[in-house]
Amino acid sequence: MCGIIGYIGAKEASQILIDGLEKLEYRGYDSAGVAILNEGKIEVRKFKGRLSVLEENIKEKPVKGSMGIGHTRWATHGEPSDVNSHPHKSNDNKIAVVHNGIIENYMEIKEELQKLGYSFISETDTEVISHLLDHYYNGDILDTVKKVINKIDGAYALGIIHADNPDMLIAVKKDSPLIVGIGEDENFIASDIPAVLKYTRKVYILESGEMAIVKKDSISLMKTDGTPITKDIYDVTWDIEAAEKGGYEHFMLKEIYEQPKAIKDTLLPRVSNNGEVKLDSINLSKEYIKGTKRIYIVACGTAYHAGLLGKDMIEKYAKIPVIVDVASEFRYSEPFIDQNTLVIVVSQSGETADTLAALRLSKEKGARVLAITNVVGSSISRESDDVLYTWAGPEIAVASTKAYTTQIVALALVALEMAKKKNSITDEEINMIIKSLKKLPSRLEEVLSNVESIKDTAERIYSSQSIFYIGRGIDYDVSREGSLKLKEISYIHSEAIAAGELKHGTLALIEEGTPVIALVTQDKLYDKMLSNIKEVKARGAYVVAIAKEGNIEIEKSADRVIFIPKTIDEVSSVLSIVPLQLLSYYVAYKRGCDIDKPKNLAKSVTVE
Ligand code: M6R
Repeated sequence: MCGIIGYIGAKEASQILIDGLEKLEYRGYDSAGVAILNEGKIEVRKFKGRLSVLEENIKEKPVKGSMGIGHTRWATHGEPSDVNSHPHKSNDNKIAVVHNGIIENYMEIKEELQKLGYSFISETDTEVISHLLDHYYNGDILDTVKKVINKIDGAYALGIIHADNPDMLIAVKKDSPLIVGIGEDENFIASDIPAVLKYTRKVYILESGEMAIVKKDSISLMKTDGTPITKDIYDVTWDIEAAEKGGYEHFMLKEIYEQPKAIKDTLLPRVSNNGEVKLDSINLSKEYIKGTKRIYIVACGTAYHAGLLGKDMIEKYAKIPVIVDVASEFRYSEPFIDQNTLVIVVSQSGETADTLAALRLSKEKGARVLAITNVVGSSISRESDDVLYTWAGPEIAVASTKAYTTQIVALALVALEMAKKKNSITDEEINMIIKSLKKLPSRLEEVLSNVESIKDTAERIYSSQSIFYIGRGIDYDVSREGSLKLKEISYIHSEAIAAGELKHGTLALIEEGTPVIALVTQDKLYDKMLSNIKEVKARGAYVVAIAKEGNIEIEKSADRVIFIPKTIDEVSSVLSIVPLQLLSYYVAYKRGCDIDKPKNLAKSVTVE
């Protein structure tokens, strides 16, 4: 994880670096630092804690200079502390480095360097890079960087400055994301576009094995062996406001409320007025789909939960067996993959390390890979055979919300496309499903306007020690996401249980007053769920049901009911998750949690 930024130009670098780091804080936020070069000397300021600690320090005691690098950290090697914060310097203070990623062979390099007399002050893997740069430096910084790259293994986005080369920043990329922002008489490097958007909309997206020598008025792009390359400039079309809070107290709340628009943007360009799906961007021919024997959906966290719903829809409509796996398990398993296997990887960020590794493994084994991702130009989008973008806009809060609902919509479109090509569904059925999909944004608006009963429920349950979620089928899939959302931002222990499994163990945990959130949105499973609600009620549970409008019967069995508008079962997940997102938000709010930046987590998980 971690976010890196660099600036070279004529302005004071410190404020620009801090502005950029603020936009990258979603990547990590346990410490932050900058290194600024001025009159041949590098000054480093770095502190444990939020960016505001660094910002205060610089306000009190400004640091001058018009080029520098900055970092916001999510600790991997060494606890969050001033010393372990980046940038890391060489012993002679001439080199400073910021790094996102992990240097896997750092221990052996560290031992070699220590034998040569280098002293290490931090526990980080990154510090080996600044000492290696010093060790190999022969007056030619480019040549030195090349030697260092040959020595290190792992994943890295690096920003490097050297006091003897005051006219350049060096950016190097392998696996971890890195872009170069193109300004006028100033240029930037950063882990992500929002960090430079205040200054430019033109960026280069670096690929693994590439680097850039970034000067005030020029940018030279090359492979890490020094071979020059050219690249298209990527013009950013979305606005800076999209990555700001826009009047909401938290990004999470703003992103929950953006879901109607995000779904429209993801759906409408891909369905015609006469109800046909048009997935022009993906190239899955009739022959290919007919020959597809098995599909894997591989992802992590919330994206994995969306994958579970993808399985339900693909199996139901396209009649192709689907296995859903978490990427960290999949990558070390023996998946049944051959040329007739399609692997669908789902990732908001497009940078999740385990999902990327799963993608690469699938390709090695001969599968075709379709990515569903939200980030144009991300590693996953570039390495997949086909990409279907969710047009959710930037998702900043660590807790994923609009990415999840747009991923479900994207998976529904894939399922329909396959079903159509396999003739496993009638035109009438497709039409009916598309109609229901198109109605989701207005139905979502209804759910979002019913916030008072959700706030009341939060008030009732926020001081609980444990909260359980139960459901069957699609409702169980959604329960899992609801439970994850609650635990990650409120720190309340939570589990989602397939309702029929309760009596096989978890029922033992239900006590007087234990909140149980029961999802009851499918007619065919209604009676079964009612029995499960009775089971937990008999043990004293406080039951909050999520049910479809009109189902007044349920009010007799549950302590509280939150209604969602009626829709077909297959897409009800997009509606039923929203009260659960809001419930998590208000519970966390009542508990005074740092909602957008929950402890120990980061938005973009680029380490294994
Ligand atoms: O960027 P990705 O979709 O690949 O991220 C996957 C998970 O890290 C992510 O969904 C995580 O579980 C969220 N914090 C959950 O809200």
